[in-house]
Amino acid sequence: VNREQDQLLDLHEKAAQLYHHILINTPAGEPARRYLQKRGMSRELIEQFSIGFAPVQRILTPYCNQQGLDYQLMRKSGLFTEDRDGKLQDRFIERVMFPIRNGQGRIIAFSGRLLSTERTDLPKYLNSPETPIFNKRRTLFNLDLAKKAARSDGRLYLFEGFMDVISAFGAGVENGIASMGTSFTEEQVQIINRTTKQLDICYDGDSAGQNAIDRAIGLVNAHQNGQLALRVVQLPAGVDPDEYVQQNGADKFRAYVHDREETTTDFYLRFLRNGRNLDNQQELMTYLDAVLKEVAVLDAPLEQDMYLSKLADEFKLDKAALQGQLRQLQSERR
Ligand code: UTP
Ligand code: MN
Ligand code: MN
Ligand code: MN
Ligand code: MN
Repeated sequence: VNREQDQLLDLHEKAAQLYHHILINTPAGEPARRYLQKRGMSRELIEQFSIGFAPVQRILTPYCNQQGLDYQLMRKSGLFTEDRDGKLQDRFIERVMFPIRNGQGRIIAFSGRLLSTERTDLPKYLNSPETPIFNKRRTLFNLDLAKKAARSDGRLYLFEGFMDVISAFGAGVENGIASMGTSFTEEQVQIINRTTKQLDICYDGDSAGQNAIDRAIGLVNAHQNGQLALRVVQLPAGVDPDEYVQQNGADKFRAYVHDREETTTDFYLRFLRNGRNLDNQQELMTYLDAVLKEVAVLDAPLEQDMYLSKLADEFKLDKAALQGQLRQLQSERR
């Protein structure tokens, strides 16, 4: 860590303290306090994640100027926007502030969530831009705390959003991480691979979430050689992990992620049905072909056999015929 990076880390720490102070102790923080309370966010979680609020009145620019902070340092921090005359202003306004920490627990960026649901012209979450201390492709939200919890649980949970990670943490699932709003990256896969032996993907229970699970599985499999076991926890339709915790409580959430963990093959058995009418012979054939391609990549013969039995049972098919088809697919793969 060079001097500039050190100063940037220091500025982020101070900014987080300022936003947190505004949220907790000032009248300007009142709308955000109400918002977080409505979302069921406990005081303990607000403290644990150093959540804050950037009010309408810009506060970070005057604070930094008062401290005599270097203009170039402020520019590089990503915490300000610059107008045509080079004048800096707070980037984050009227947003609940989530500090983003690196693997060592230092704050390197922020994500700010809009309070208002009316401003559809603005992004719901606004993240810091890339800076000398913030590389989005290499950052996983909550990795510093999650990797400690992963040592006892033997796995990490990958969620879609920051609120999902935080709610899960509050519900006792402390080994949750999330990517940076941008899609999941190869660099993040490599970091996870160095951290743990199993990854459970637990995205939102909507079709966007299912498509994202499919992409995440493809990415992980493309960048590792089976050292990382992959599992999927598919949530009920229409809810995300945060909503599940709010609606059902911590105990049910822990039980759900524990009991509903499934293999990626089981996920594909369901996922590949989407949009297909399996009563139609032709569509059933296309489905079976797609599913057998997933079964073909498994290297345990017993596991392959189990899925063939499942398919034979469900669709009243001859298992030997399925076996034949699978062998053919496998010879094509070689
Ligand atoms: P979601 O739309 O599922 O948001 O996007 P969420 O996490 O459930 O957020 P809440 O509950 O409405 O507050 C999932 C993730 O995608 C990124 C964020 O990281 C978000 O958590 N995202 C979403 C953005 O970066 N920008 C956006 O405008 C929207
Ligand atoms: Mn505090
Ligand atoms: Mn979503
Ligand atoms: Mn969501
Ligand atoms: Mn949500």
